[in-house]
Amino acid sequence: MTADEKLRLAHLLDTTGDYLRDGFRLPRAEYGFTDDGELPPEASAPNAAVPDAVSVPGSSDTLDGIAAEIGACTGCALQGERKNAVPGEGAARPLVMIIGEGPGADEDASGRPFVGKAGQLLDKMLASVGLSREKNCFIANVVKCRPPNNRDPLPEEMGPCSRFLARQITLLNPKIILCVGRISAQALLKTGASMGSLRGSFKPYQLTDDLVIPLLSTYHPSAILRDESYKRPSWEDLKLLRQRLMELDSNYALEAGEGGR
Ligand code: URA
Repeated sequence: MTADEKLRLAHLLDTTGDYLRDGFRLPRAEYGFTDDGELPPEASAPNAAVPDAVSVPGSSDTLDGIAAEIGACTGCALQGERKNAVPGEGAARPLVMIIGEGPGADEDASGRPFVGKAGQLLDKMLASVGLSREKNCFIANVVKCRPPNNRDPLPEEMGPCSRFLARQITLLNPKIILCVGRISAQALLKTGASMGSLRGSFKPYQLTDDLVIPLLSTYHPSAILRDESYKRPSWEDLKLLRQRLMELDSNYALEAGEGGR
């Protein structure tokens, strides 16, 4: 087959699957097919360096660059209170980007997202569906500095931080975004709807004309720690996430399927 024939077939299959599943077309990175018998470019350049920093072709943006800007940001009053800004952490090419609300005391002290009690529960929830920040997830927050007394972030705090989050999403290009908690779901979907109505199904998150990412919302782990009745619906959401990942990523499907989950 020629590279062009392969590309047309792949686009047809992608589009059919996307419409059947969601009713909207997902953008994808170019496939880089070659004609049968021709070596792919990376195979013919064995010494090509793999960059440490993730960057978007044609752009000089990197995750490390964004983290440095966040560390120096004075865009809102939260900077005056912080011990550490918390840019986020995880896999450079994640299947899932998890987005929470904002750092708490433990995160402020360590500079790392979701490391307190809620974070430990989040790690367990992710592990139950074959995900982790070490392997295939990136974890970030809507605001990167701790709101005092863990209050909800204010619009004037979320506003300046939203450009950092948008750049992180663009660079990471996750297959799925998982919003944990009402604040991040409402901020990304630009809605005032309740978590009860936002969870339970994927919504299209449109970052730019060319970038639409399926977004799932579920309860924040600290809400689950406060109220056990959120456990069951959260598990239902995690099963939806696992199902969609199995459809989207063959490596994940192999591992999750073999795990018998
Ligand atoms: N809660 C959040 O929303 N984010 C964190 O990083 C920690 C707790």
